[in-house]
Amino acid sequence: MSSIVLFGPPGAGKGTQAERMIDATGLPQVSTGDMLRAAVKAGTQTGLEAKGFMEAGLLVPDSVIIDLIKERIQEPDAKNGVMFDGFPRTIPQAEALEQITGVTHVIAIEVPDERIVERICGRYSCGACGNVYHDTFNPVPAGGCTCGNWEEKRRADDNEETVSSRLAAYHEQTSPLADWYRSKGIFHPVNGDRAIDDITGDILNALRL
Ligand code: AP5
Repeated sequence: MSSIVLFGPPGAGKGTQAERMIDATGLPQVSTGDMLRAAVKAGTQTGLEAKGFMEAGLLVPDSVIIDLIKERIQEPDAKNGVMFDGFPRTIPQAEALEQITGVTHVIAIEVPDERIVERICGRYSCGACGNVYHDTFNPVPAGGCTCGNWEEKRRADDNEETVSSRLAAYHEQTSPLADWYRSKGIFHPVNGDRAIDDITGDILNALRL
């Protein structure tokens, strides 16, 4: 089993690229952010533990995240590996991941901080299928979402105050992982400050697909 990690700051485009890579890689997208939002909505114990951290733009404790991943990786669709989106985000999470599954590529989508706020504050998605759009850079087609069931949804943590906490958490706790993975020879940086299609092309090249 071999997995891929999509790495980068909040709003870098990890989810956008993951969606486009599902067919090419044959791997399911595993987004810890999506899993946590589902848990909050369902009111599970995990959701109750995570809610306050997410609303404040802080990282959810490692133990909660690692348990979620251990459970998710048991699902039948994960038998050939998965595409992690937003995980791991700390060294302890990366160390736990090493015990759970092999990682062949860490794709780092690099975007300067000044671009992040406009990306996050303009984001919305289709409540029916989860496709991600942007007010300016990637608007929903005139006839609604490609899934045919358009319902606009915006995230509670997509506001300027929370973005600065999320960026601080990224720089303090997550960015050290870049050197950690670079030393393992599986780190592939991609310039994420370009058109969405160009970035997809670079990721496919890095994966040799
Ligand atoms: P999570 O849901 O993972 O949020 P995030 O990392 O902050 O990343 P985003 O989902 O906001 O951004 P993205 O990189 O996927 O960008 P997107 O493709 O949407 O985490 C939320 C919270 O959950 C965390 O704050 C934390 O509390 C908790 N959490 C989750 N995982 C955790 C973990 N492992 N450990 C601890 N806590 C955890 O793109 C953004 C926008 O830009 C979209 O509107 C898109 O259309 C647009 N866009 C994309 N690409 C481009 C481009 N090239 N040009 C212009 N616009 C673009």
